[in-house]
Amino acid sequence: MRVAIVGATGAVGQELLRVLEARNFPVGHLLPLASARSVGTRLAFRGESVTVQEATVDAFDGVDVAFFSAGASRSCALVPEARKRGAVVIDNSSAFRMMPEVPLAVPEINLTESDKAKTLYAVPNCTAIILTMAVAPLRQLGVMRRLIVSTYQSASGGGAGMMRYLEQDTEAFLSNREGMPPEDRPDGLPAYAFNVFSHNTPIDARGRNEEEAKVISETRKILGEPNLHLNVTCVRVPVLRAHCESVCIEFEEYAPPVELVRQTLEFASGLAVVDDRQANQFPNARLAAHTDDVLVGRIRHDGSDPRLLNLWIAGDQLRKGAALNAVQIAEWKFRS
Ligand SMILES: NC(=O)c1ccc[n+]([C@@H]2O[C@H](COP(=O)([O-])OP(=O)(O)OC[C@H]3O[C@@H](n4cnc5c(N)ncnc54)[C@H](OP(=O)(O)O)[C@@H]3O)[C@@H](O)[C@H]2O)c1
Repeated sequence: MRVAIVGATGAVGQELLRVLEARNFPVGHLLPLASARSVGTRLAFRGESVTVQEATVDAFDGVDVAFFSAGASRSCALVPEARKRGAVVIDNSSAFRMMPEVPLAVPEINLTESDKAKTLYAVPNCTAIILTMAVAPLRQLGVMRRLIVSTYQSASGGGAGMMRYLEQDTEAFLSNREGMPPEDRPDGLPAYAFNVFSHNTPIDARGRNEEEAKVISETRKILGEPNLHLNVTCVRVPVLRAHCESVCIEFEEYAPPVELVRQTLEFASGLAVVDDRQANQFPNARLAAHTDDVLVGRIRHDGSDPRLLNLWIAGDQLRKGAALNAVQIAEWKFRS
């Protein structure tokens, strides 16, 4: 297959290259695309060096599948052109996620045979993917009324630039105890090293930041539950890779027994239960980084209300939260 990656030089794009390689996706010809700034950059793929080209409309001639990870405005401009030229598009940006006709696809959860004919698939927000992977299998144990979620999101969720900022601010802090001067911080971000801050996306009239609003609407769409209540607080922590999330599920009636929850999660595909109370071993960001599975643990009831179940989850948001999920969609789409 002729495979294009738009945003091949970015955090998700780089991970897409690794996942395509590792899963032996049938790439006959790879076309890495990025902005004009990166033209001529050499990237490694399957032991060879491939050259980045500019993402222009003509680049999509003859492309079978195009993975987009270059931001919503680039997707809005180029996805229709890629589809016009016959490419199936799998888009990591937020551009098309909430369009009713576009599947917001997590293959373990919601793809159906009727989606096979589509030529555009949206990969959900990374925090929403990790959340729904853990929550979806538990719907067979009872009707859920509400999810209360607090996130601990890593720098790589903000792309390669945010990772660089965390590294540089940490180096500066270790040498001067203050970190980078405010005027050197990118995009008006707060200090990052040894700090925790509310997610750096714009706040709406209701006081929710954009990440929280995405997690709410996309979780409902992924699960096909438009009336599910969600209370979400998104926060960045000084971690390079993998998001953690504290999740409280409120069931309509009694929360299911902990052992049944554990068994259900162990049985679900794409999840690994890490829940050793004696050894105090639970999911963490370093454990989840570079792994495919979403890790789930701290499975427990809340003594204050018999309807509540708590979970603590960790998932590599570049892997299952973006690149792996995108490649899984392509594998599903082209599987005969
Ligand atoms: N990071 C995550 O965990 C994550 C998870 C899920 C979804 N996403 C989504 O994936 C997309 C990429 O995120 P990222 O984290 O990989 O960002 P990133 O590291 O900043 O990479 C951005 C990529 O977009 C390319 N790009 C920028 N402007 C362009 C233009 N005008 N034309 C063509 N290419 C252009 C960049 O190319 P140059 O190197 O040439 O500038 C780079 O390859 C975003 O839509 C993001 O919301 C990210």
